[in-house]
Amino acid sequence: MRKIVIAIDGTAGSGKTTICLKLAYLLNYTPVLTGKLYRGIGAYIKRHNLKPEEIKEKIKDLKIEYKFEKNVPKIFVNGEDLTSELSDPEVEKITSKIAEFKEVRSFLYNVQREFVERKGVIMEGRDIGTVIAPDADLKIYMDADIKIRAERRLKDFKEKGKNVNYETVLKELEKRDKRDKERVNAPLKKAKDAYFIDTTNKTIDEVVYEILKLAYEKIYTSKDKLRWRIAYVIVYPIIKWLFGMKIKGRENILKRGPCIITPNHVTFWDPPFVGFAVKRECYFLAKIDLFVTNPLFAWLIRTFNAIPIRRGAGAISAYERAEELLKEGKVVIIFPEGTRSKTGKLLPFKKGAASLACKVRVPVYPVYIENVKEGPLKWIIRKKRLRITIDKPLLPSDNTKEYVEEFNKKIEERVKNLMAT
Ligand code: C5P
Repeated sequence: MRKIVIAIDGTAGSGKTTICLKLAYLLNYTPVLTGKLYRGIGAYIKRHNLKPEEIKEKIKDLKIEYKFEKNVPKIFVNGEDLTSELSDPEVEKITSKIAEFKEVRSFLYNVQREFVERKGVIMEGRDIGTVIAPDADLKIYMDADIKIRAERRLKDFKEKGKNVNYETVLKELEKRDKRDKERVNAPLKKAKDAYFIDTTNKTIDEVVYEILKLAYEKIYTSKDKLRWRIAYVIVYPIIKWLFGMKIKGRENILKRGPCIITPNHVTFWDPPFVGFAVKRECYFLAKIDLFVTNPLFAWLIRTFNAIPIRRGAGAISAYERAEELLKEGKVVIIFPEGTRSKTGKLLPFKKGAASLACKVRVPVYPVYIENVKEGPLKWIIRKKRLRITIDKPLLPSDNTKEYVEEFNKKIEERVKNLMAT
């Protein structure tokens, strides 16, 4: 697995910081919010009552440290922790001014370059893709309608208990945009090879997922085994035609990289059908009993990546195997009901899939298999349609016991919604 460098640039309020933090969590990378470095210098100036110009001379004596601790970025200047002062409106004004000084930029260039050399980082700022890391593996440029950005900023300020009005925030943003884009040294602009994302009408998770997809394509290179590719090219079209199988939402699935698929479970047919719907090589957890009854069947499911799972404590080794596979960038199908539903009604979800997703930090796709109980005859004569719907992914953002419970409920809720529509 390659460790890459991701550069995210864009206007203030376009969502860079939140998106950078969530992506870094999912990829287990260090998020470097470079604006904090500039703000750190701004806060230092304010704390020591300096005139902004004085920093040009003094900067060479500064030691600035960026630490990412307990999900919070911290800034120390000459050993002083200035983290709590970074979003002070006066510090913000000073910062915007001193960010224009070439002395400040070249000092921070070296600090930022150290992160680039380390790899496994996501850096967000104004000039990452153009100046700091023109060699980044993936570059993103984000923007959004200024009115929406002002609303987002206002919400942030209010959450922090700051009393500001919309007009002031909008004016400040306009000024900042102008300064960032028009300054002589490293102005804010899209690198030629950056992907442009307009975040105006997108949720955070939608943007995170868009970038995650691109990142996975750079990080994971493994290809599907030949037998899977043959199955897709030869067996799948026959099955699709014969049974009149309908698949919805395949475009939601990542082309590369790890994910967990969580379908409802009614028959033995479910794993191959879901595999066909996903159209990538899949691994699936299958009860150990299936491996002992019929040797030919056992051989077949092993050939197509079944991982035997024992009941109770014995399940741990199957989950460990699934974890390894996900770390290699593979797709794992887990039926969260734990057993086939005899009636077709959804059984309560067990936590295995959710807790694995939260532990390994991978997307989960809820899936609904419809009319699978009806059997081949009804499908062939088209009395009932065999339908598989793949939902948009759910992205985990924590791994506490409570969060896993909540995440599991979300997956279950999504499958229920698919069943109801
Ligand atoms: O991103 P944030 O709002 O924290 O950045 C604070 C200020 O630092 C920006 O307005 C910009 O002037 C400056 N900055 C910069 N180059 C960067 C990051 C931030 O000039 N890479």
